[in-house]
Amino acid sequence: MSAVTSSSDDLWRPADSGGRQEFWEGVHDSKDVDGVSWWQSVPGLSLGLVDSTGLRPDEPIIDVGAGWSTLVDHLLERGCRDLTAIDLSATALQTVRDRLGDAGRQVVLEVADVLDLHPSRRFALWHDRAVHHFLTEADERADYVASLERSLRPGGWLVVATFGPDGPTTCSGLPIVRFTHEELAAQFPGYRLVDTAGEEHETPWGSTQQFTAVLMRRPGGQDSRS
Ligand SMILES: C[S@@+](CC[C@H](N)C(=O)[O-])C[C@H]1O[C@@H](n2cnc3c(N)ncnc32)[C@H](O)[C@@H]1O
Repeated sequence: MSAVTSSSDDLWRPADSGGRQEFWEGVHDSKDVDGVSWWQSVPGLSLGLVDSTGLRPDEPIIDVGAGWSTLVDHLLERGCRDLTAIDLSATALQTVRDRLGDAGRQVVLEVADVLDLHPSRRFALWHDRAVHHFLTEADERADYVASLERSLRPGGWLVVATFGPDGPTTCSGLPIVRFTHEELAAQFPGYRLVDTAGEEHETPWGSTQQFTAVLMRRPGGQDSRS
């Protein structure tokens, strides 16, 4: 696994799961949906990578650190029927629940910490946009991979997007880690890199943020090439 460095090591950050939950609940409690830099009405980068997997609509997908992202809305529109989104913020997930209404009754929305995820079943695709890059400590990144391993089935797909090397050095006032495609792929040893992508995300107030994304596949299952 390649070394990663946070460019803002001296910034305050929540130390444990309770602190993280309080912090992110506070963020979502105090903002409108389009009052956060990461808001996008259409998550084009993510959807492009998810679409390219060719997953069947009945296969289970999890969006970790989903916040009030519209990814589940767009996947529902595509006919996906087995969707789960988790986040530390109950407020964010309630916003999604209210927005989806009846159409999204079957979407599972759960308050959970991605660093300590113990799902009762495994998913065919794990999606993360703008969560992994908050993990500035090696033990947190190890916990994330452990949650991923418990949650993704063999042959399952991994879509992860973080700030790129020219992206911001903080998000919501927290330090983050920026990744090249190679550095990001190296976070998931043993997984096969299938595709890379990126975008200049336009924030609601018109600035841009560089994102790096990878599509990877867990060995085993139907993926006989790894
Ligand atoms: C920058 S936002 C991105 C939200 C969403 N993925 C998107 O693209 O719109 C980060 C999200 O991750 C959530 N989060 C942060 N740390 C988390 C953790 N350890 N477990 C679960 N969710 C977390 C936050 O509450 C927030 O909703």
